[in-house]
Amino acid sequence: MADPIDPSNPSASAPVFSIHSKLPRRRFDAVIVGAGGSGMRASLQLAEAGLSVAVLSKVFPTRSHTVAAQGGIGASLGNMSEDNWYWHMFDTVKGSDYLGDQDAIEFMCREAPNVVYELEHFGMPFDRNPDGTIYQRPFGGHSANFGEKPVARACAAADRTGHAMLHTLYQRNVRARTQFFVEWMALDLIRDADGDVVGVVALEMETGDAMILEAKTTLLATGGAGRIWAASTNAFINTGDGMGMAARAGIPLEDMEFWQFHPTGVAGAGVLITEGVRGEGGILLNSNGERFMERYAPTLKDLAARDFVSRSMDQEIKEGRGCGPKKDYVLLKLDHLGADTIMKRLPSIREIAIKFANVDPIKEPIPVVPTIHYQMGGIPTNYLGQVVVPKNGNPNEIVNGLYAIGECACVSVHGANRLGTNSLLDLLVFGRSAGNHIVASGLKDKPWKTLPADAAEATTARLAALESRGSGEKTQDVANDIRSNMQAHCGVFRTQALLGEGVSKIMALAERAKDVAVQDKSKVFNTARIEALELDNLVEVAKATIVAAEARKESRGAHAREDFPDRNDADWIRHSLFYTEGNRLDYKPVNLKPLTVETFQPKKRTF
Ligand code: FUM
Repeated sequence: MADPIDPSNPSASAPVFSIHSKLPRRRFDAVIVGAGGSGMRASLQLAEAGLSVAVLSKVFPTRSHTVAAQGGIGASLGNMSEDNWYWHMFDTVKGSDYLGDQDAIEFMCREAPNVVYELEHFGMPFDRNPDGTIYQRPFGGHSANFGEKPVARACAAADRTGHAMLHTLYQRNVRARTQFFVEWMALDLIRDADGDVVGVVALEMETGDAMILEAKTTLLATGGAGRIWAASTNAFINTGDGMGMAARAGIPLEDMEFWQFHPTGVAGAGVLITEGVRGEGGILLNSNGERFMERYAPTLKDLAARDFVSRSMDQEIKEGRGCGPKKDYVLLKLDHLGADTIMKRLPSIREIAIKFANVDPIKEPIPVVPTIHYQMGGIPTNYLGQVVVPKNGNPNEIVNGLYAIGECACVSVHGANRLGTNSLLDLLVFGRSAGNHIVASGLKDKPWKTLPADAAEATTARLAALESRGSGEKTQDVANDIRSNMQAHCGVFRTQALLGEGVSKIMALAERAKDVAVQDKSKVFNTARIEALELDNLVEVAKATIVAAEARKESRGAHAREDFPDRNDADWIRHSLFYTEGNRLDYKPVNLKPLTVETFQPKKRTF
């Protein structure tokens, strides 16, 4: 049957308005939600191949959270000393505490030099060595020869690598005629009767008007959800929108119990101080002036994997060796690097320390604490970026028409703990591989699927309910309670008592979130409405996180249980899957088989 709202169908009654939902409608070969590193890397691939691409972003693209990434992109270029992709793969598998899928990890580490050179050719202003090669610095958990000694693998543009990368990608996209929808928020996925994804419903933030964006392929690239926590290095836009959309569309969220605490957030402010500081030679000190990481990680010391360093810092604080009047932080000392190195390699860190900690690191150490930084879990995908779900006995059945890339996706290359610099790498590798896969699938010639009659119904009902509620709680009261409870019940060290209570509290907050009211009813540029819609997404992520964390009775990577202090490979080398419908958990196997090399078998982790 001809689609009655197909603009090419002569009998279509109103080509720009959907007869089903009264919403205007537009069509693109691909719709990408999110204009950070992964979204813009994918859009570039698609636009250059001649596909029509719409990229939706809540903020101007160069303000996406990738802009805040500081230290570098991991790639075994070997510019400073010998290195190779296989060592990088070993470090990533070990860093993941053996929960990463080894096919995806091999793919990422092999591709790393290619995507970095490509970026260099796009015009990325990397720092340079005297011989003109890209400057690389050491980073946590990256080693030469299978853990023997630190290796310089982070390709850096001073301490503004994400900023440089995002601007480079944006400029290339402008050249490729990618169409940006700036200050648009995607609200829900549209799935048809086959379960295929056929587009999104989105809201123009300026006007408050909703629209259907129909697409042969939809890519979620919405980044993380660090704003479910009170203290976070994440931007305020990081509210887990893609994960909320996926959850509401019946797609489970994978490995959400694994959240990375970055060792060095400015105490009391949460702002990131790059691991590149320690890569350049900075060290952590306790109140006795002791370089305590030498005790915990004799080989890599301050450059051990992040979960290891964060736990060591917490331990020092717990045992009374924290600094300051409340003994609740440790110190990051870098004055010995000298003013020249600090000004050349770490200029933004100096600015941040002066502004947020009131110390000049050329003269004084910076007070730091482990701070939420990154989610290892997300929307389950394979290494081509296709979203996969368990179906008919297959744990990884492909959802047609849907990809997820970047931090909102769980490929899973980071497993239970990500290595620093592998996040920017992940964005580039999987943004590009998703783009390539879509182009190779012959998308341009694929027929359009018929939009379901109720395409926008759930979303318009959600919007209408928000408008019609006369009174109710303030969005930010509920959101702040979620944040303080996640912080209190799901921190660096976790216990059954804390998590059990946390589950009850978050479930109660999920109920309260249903009744928030938008106090300011004006339709145009109404941030209150946007925050209320974001709250729906925060709730999905917080529920998935706390439920999966309570259920995992072992310690692995960033998930540290005081009551189950050991890793339990016999029972727990498996990925969790949280379904919002019924708040239930399922599990699926970890792929321990790489693409071409032998499996790295789980071993005890020491650094
Ligand atoms: O420390 C940093 O510069 C952060 C990098 C990362 O999370 O990969």
